[in-house]
Amino acid sequence: MESRTSEADGWLDALAAELGLSLGAYKREQLVRRAAAFAHQRGLDGPWELVGRVRADRSWAEECRHYLTIHVTAFFRDPPYWAWLEQLLAARPRAGRLRVWSAAAATGAEPLSVAALLRRLGYPADILATDVDERVIRQAEAGEYGAAEIGGLDETVRRILFEAGSPGSVRVRPEIRAQIRYRRLDLLQDPYPAGPFDLILCRNVLIYFTAEERHRVVGRLVERLAPAGVLFVGATEVLLNPEDFGLTVVFPALYRRRA
Ligand SMILES: C[S@@+](CC[C@H](N)C(=O)[O-])C[C@H]1O[C@@H](n2cnc3c(N)ncnc32)[C@H](O)[C@@H]1O
Repeated sequence: MESRTSEADGWLDALAAELGLSLGAYKREQLVRRAAAFAHQRGLDGPWELVGRVRADRSWAEECRHYLTIHVTAFFRDPPYWAWLEQLLAARPRAGRLRVWSAAAATGAEPLSVAALLRRLGYPADILATDVDERVIRQAEAGEYGAAEIGGLDETVRRILFEAGSPGSVRVRPEIRAQIRYRRLDLLQDPYPAGPFDLILCRNVLIYFTAEERHRVVGRLVERLAPAGVLFVGATEVLLNPEDFGLTVVFPALYRRRA
């Protein structure tokens, strides 16, 4: 069981109500720490003042939601896992367009990595990219990346994904843009897209959820997988009992739904 910080319950529940997030589904201690850090950074006198600000001002609510949902991401994050994904997809019989869902897409590095990989393999694909935080979705949709963000990318991938943008940045190519649809979706509260998907990426977000919610989310994701569809989770999010979900381990963090 995740521990509860009882003195935090009141303000955290009030904050959750104002932000429209199911904060109870996230690991509590981490949220308490993060909300306290946000309040401190903004010079507020404790969490109740934060609740008041968020209640009074929508821009505070957006800022706070953005701060609480952590957005660290990178192109081909954890490269060995992407090499395994490539191996797995390359061995797949080719039939029609692949349907892909990047379920916590952050600022877009993940759906773009998968778009580049599939182009390289010669797979046509439609990619849905969703995230709970509207702000990162808008940023991903804008499709502009600075030199630092794409620094580690090899030349072939750069050429597949980008064209020159405003000075010091690159812009996602129109043909790649046309493959990816972005929208806001909360994995804890919203209905999931119907699918079925051949590949679902849900990486580095499950770790923020309580064990119970993680289990519920994985179950719902698996329902959206096509038979033999692949679920790709974060390197630190490997499932303890994949067979309970009707999944077979293909590589670490990569699972196939039993046909
Ligand atoms: C650490 S980032 C991971 C991004 C990317 N998947 C990766 O592995 O690089 C976690 C993302 O999960 C999103 N997130 C947090 N809670 C969520 C929820 N309930 N539903 C959907 N996305 C959520 C955050 O907004 C953030 O963009």
